[in-house]
Amino acid sequence: MMEHIITNGGLHTSNVMFDNLYPETIRRLSKHHWTPVAIARQAAHFLADAPGRRVLDIGSGVGKFCLIGAYFYPEAHFYGVEQRKELYAHAESARTLTQQANVHFIHGNFTALDFEDYDNFYFYNAFFENLDEGNRIDHQIEFSESLFVYYSQYLYTVLDHKPAGTRLVTFHSLENEVPPRYEVRGASADRLLKMWEKV
Ligand SMILES: C[S@@+](CC[C@H](N)C(=O)[O-])C[C@H]1O[C@@H](n2cnc3c(N)ncnc32)[C@H](O)[C@@H]1O
Repeated sequence: MMEHIITNGGLHTSNVMFDNLYPETIRRLSKHHWTPVAIARQAAHFLADAPGRRVLDIGSGVGKFCLIGAYFYPEAHFYGVEQRKELYAHAESARTLTQQANVHFIHGNFTALDFEDYDNFYFYNAFFENLDEGNRIDHQIEFSESLFVYYSQYLYTVLDHKPAGTRLVTFHSLENEVPPRYEVRGASADRLLKMWEKV
């Protein structure tokens, strides 16, 4: 059954098929927490703008953005950092199942990374769980408004230090983490997906 999923050509274009890589508990979270396949492809197109680009998903969950991006842009490297060990483990399992070589998952907090190691960034509102009591992935970690502020400011600072030409894609973002020198280069019609470049 799983072999069928992997070899079927629709895997990276169908949310239902892709989500079938994961157990039911993870599939149920997809609508609110994992990037839809079409959005992931569009974001990856903007971020993998040259061969060898190192794209980091800040808060990579079960790896959906990275795995789809890596499939469509095999000359780029996709990295995902995820604080929840269980989600990281699901991302690793999906990576093994899809045999995607240009994806690397890291378990930890994004604040532990050296941002020099990455060129472009994807951000799907990873810190919002701290404010949104009714829609959390689980209750295994600590949440607070001050963590939201701390993480948003931390990300703002590291993005602000990146060189001109750095690309960022935000999805459902409140934009607190986007420094003013990032200019919008494109957006979806509903403005939930935004493509930015540092000038
Ligand atoms: C909305 S989900 C997006 C998942 C994935 N990027 C995607 O698009 O499918 C945000 C994820 O960010 C993770 N996250 C939140 N804060 C984090 C932090 N400080 N360091 C690492 N991961 C974090 C959460 O655990 C959650 O899995």
